[in-house]
Amino acid sequence: MDTSEIIIIAAFDQNKGMGLNGDLPWHLPNDFRHFKTQTMGSPMLMGRKTLESFPKALPGRAHYVLSRDENYTPPFQVDGIFNDLEDAIKTLKHYSKLYVIGGGQIYRQALSKATTLEITRVQGIFEADTFFPEIDFKEWKLMKKTIHPKDERHPVSFQIETWVKINSPTEAI
Ligand SMILES: NC(=O)c1ccc[n+]([C@@H]2O[C@H](COP(=O)([O-])OP(=O)(O)OC[C@H]3O[C@@H](n4cnc5c(N)ncnc54)[C@H](OP(=O)(O)O)[C@@H]3O)[C@@H](O)[C@H]2O)c1
Repeated sequence: MDTSEIIIIAAFDQNKGMGLNGDLPWHLPNDFRHFKTQTMGSPMLMGRKTLESFPKALPGRAHYVLSRDENYTPPFQVDGIFNDLEDAIKTLKHYSKLYVIGGGQIYRQALSKATTLEITRVQGIFEADTFFPEIDFKEWKLMKKTIHPKDERHPVSFQIETWVKINSPTEAI
């Protein structure tokens, strides 16, 4: 069976900014919680820099990392290392779904392969050195949108949107 869903999960601001100095530009606990709920129990594919932004493995999820360095040694144990994105997707196709969790380099290469976008739009403009690629929304259908107003723990509001690729098998679900 081929992976039926390749889900890009990402958060970006109004300039598409999404990373700064190897970390996120913001602290939004309820978006973290959303990321955790979404990905829990599922495999995650990520770039080497995103892996290295975690202090340790995230519990309950398989970690697969992309690096072009054939001798790459991750800072903690992971479930697999790939030197090539196509190879990773092919090897992981036994999973019914695969979360692509960044960063910018990996989103840019995986966007055309994704069936679902789980995006958080952060309502603000933050200093950033990593950006999400342009999305052609004509190719996508909005399935769900949830607005999170700002509050004492969230200095800005954000909205979480689920988009599915038009004509992908996921669109019919
Ligand atoms: N806001 C969000 O949703 C979000 C999500 C994730 C990450 N981030 C942020 O994004 C930033 C990191 O993103 P980034 O773009 O700098 O790095 P990245 O995409 O996480 O990792 C880039 C690395 O992945 C490897 N790589 C890239 N393409 C590859 C390919 N086709 N085959 C094999 N390996 C490949 C290379 O590793 P080698 O150099 O080892 O070859 C490359 O240096 C951080 O600030 C992080 O906090 C934000």
